[in-house]
Amino acid sequence: MEIIFFTTNKNKVKELKDMAAAESKNIRIEHLEYDYPELQLEEIEAVAKESAKYINEKIAIKKPFFIEDSGLFIHALNGFPGPFSAYVFNKIGNEGILKLMADKKGEERKVTFKTVVAFCESVKTAPHLFVGSTEGKIAGEVRGEGGFGYDPIFEFEGAGKTFAEMSSEEKNAVSHRGRAFRKLLNYIS
Ligand code: IMP
Repeated sequence: MEIIFFTTNKNKVKELKDMAAAESKNIRIEHLEYDYPELQLEEIEAVAKESAKYINEKIAIKKPFFIEDSGLFIHALNGFPGPFSAYVFNKIGNEGILKLMADKKGEERKVTFKTVVAFCESVKTAPHLFVGSTEGKIAGEVRGEGGFGYDPIFEFEGAGKTFAEMSSEEKNAVSHRGRAFRKLLNYIS
């Protein structure tokens, strides 16, 4: 079965193609580069759902497809940047987040990374949502060369490594995106 992934983020495509190849023999991901407008809503579930509906209406694609939206939720900052993670990353980047967290210690550095995958089986079906999350801490400094985005400052709980210090396989096994996408793979199979 072929499913289409609408995104402009090539890092996400690589992660999910690797995962599908490793964990599901019958599902193949086709990437379609399409920059749909992302609504700035308070819940990433709503963002993902509305984005999938938009694509369904605008493109009326004949194959099953999905999109995904992710957000970084820092507990001590009341869930900031959450649904605004892309905007905040573009404006202040990892160094800006580290500055905001400069006086936060130990448990105060706790953070949740969350992904919502919205899957449409056909143009007639409403999006089906799959949520995955993972817990960690904002690292004291940028660490690691791998990954993308917030990976160098997201220290996975218990591992002592940031996502940028993990291999793609290690990250996929425990990441927000890996967990959400695995639910989609199970649903399809
Ligand atoms: P979006 O899902 O593309 O809107 O992502 C929101 C922001 O979080 C963007 O700045 C992404 O680069 C970043 N982001 C999304 N997923 C990840 C990830 O797995 N690791 C690190 N940063 C991510």
